[in-house]
Amino acid sequence: MEEALIPSIQESLKPVVALCKRRGFIYPGSEIYGGFANTYSFGPYGVELKKNVKDLWWKTFVQKRKDMVGLDGPILLHPKAWAASGHVEGFNDALIDCKACKGRFRCDHLIEEALHKSADGMTLSEMTETVIKNKIKCPKCGATDFTEARVFNLMFHTHMSKTGSDGDLAYLRPETAQAIFLDFKNIIDTTRVRVPFGVAQIGKAFRNEITPGNFVFRVIEFEQMEIEYFIRENEWKSTFISWLKSMHDWCDLIGLKKTHVHEKEHPKEQLSHYSKRTVDLVYDFPFGRSELYGLAYRTDFDLKRHAEFSGTKIEYTDPETKEKFVPHVIEPTFGVERTLLALLCDAYEEEKLENGEMRTVLHFAPRIAPVKVAVFPLMKKDPLGSKALQIFEQLRSIWACEYDESGAIGKRYRRQDELGTPFCITIDFETMENDTVTLRDRDTMKQERIPVNQLVQILSEKLK
Ligand code: GAP
Repeated sequence: MEEALIPSIQESLKPVVALCKRRGFIYPGSEIYGGFANTYSFGPYGVELKKNVKDLWWKTFVQKRKDMVGLDGPILLHPKAWAASGHVEGFNDALIDCKACKGRFRCDHLIEEALHKSADGMTLSEMTETVIKNKIKCPKCGATDFTEARVFNLMFHTHMSKTGSDGDLAYLRPETAQAIFLDFKNIIDTTRVRVPFGVAQIGKAFRNEITPGNFVFRVIEFEQMEIEYFIRENEWKSTFISWLKSMHDWCDLIGLKKTHVHEKEHPKEQLSHYSKRTVDLVYDFPFGRSELYGLAYRTDFDLKRHAEFSGTKIEYTDPETKEKFVPHVIEPTFGVERTLLALLCDAYEEEKLENGEMRTVLHFAPRIAPVKVAVFPLMKKDPLGSKALQIFEQLRSIWACEYDESGAIGKRYRRQDELGTPFCITIDFETMENDTVTLRDRDTMKQERIPVNQLVQILSEKLK
């Protein structure tokens, strides 16, 4: 059998990865074929978590704001758009191969991990020289025999027609942002937006990444939630600060611990070709502090380049002053998979209980938890079973609910703890006497007795 392509996962992530697989959050991609490197499926609970994150993001940044509209642009854009955006020329990584085991690595990562110094700003030959001079070992086989570092474009290619010739080359988008710039003119011509305003989009992006096995942190197919916020040039500093605050507020809203989220300013010499200022929100992942989200001041670079490459005039006219100008752009960008990984790492706890037993629990904020309420009959048999089903049917029309009638109640609680379900309801013999149930809180494990006719109201309060 061929060597499995499922990447070996870094030690620090193993408990979270194991839980994700065991409980149906995230599976390795194409597993029955031995895996397909750096691809993953989101299982039944992963997809719910993802949907809750995306819905909350849309509600927060589009639905609740007067200055935002949405877009769902295509994955395949005119190939010239990627020349205009600078991706054809400049969206590259430096890669290096181990001659002994044929392992392929990002040269900057190899240097950073071996020497604990940044390779940013190094030329290809400087990188090769650093690897040779310091006798850096191959992380896979330990050999010190590498090829020269060379440039590798991160965009996936495909062909538009049956001929498959180079003339039909198209790219899968490596960022969602460009679709927004391409439709900027359509949006100002067909809606009543006024600068300053933003366009939000959620969608897939693709990058041919080499990864060091950090699970869904760096994958080749992922989702971005991006905003291009159009402003006058002189507004950029204050708009940047206010978006930075909104991004921190978002992290609070989804329940990430404040102490795990930090800012990292990009030094001038490391800025992307389009950016005059970039600040990352970095998160303390188990494998180290790494980029979660980014905020960039993209100036008027993209709109001007698309005007130039397409030959289409792209300008905004102020409806009152009739002033014409090309807006500048502040771009807050959020990766969906990284959000999920941060949420899972933040929520994960192996807790020692008073009786010495261990429980694994995900302390998700109720608003993003995949299942909100689980309903258990103490016994399968009627009348408890049918009463529990009746309550379950009522609750599932409002929230994502689970029904579980198998095994001891303690085991059922543990199952829901691992899914991060905030509340469990048990229907027992007392229910049949006085129409009350027990409501158990995931975090405190405390149980209270509440009347069935107040269940919806009490849960609504708690799940707010
Ligand atoms: N439009 C700007 C842009 O794409 P980026 O920093 O390259 O900027 C934005 O990507 C966000 O997308 C990152 O902050 C991260 O959350 C996510 N992201 C980028 N590459 C990723 C990958 N290979 N796998 C998972 N998420 C990724």
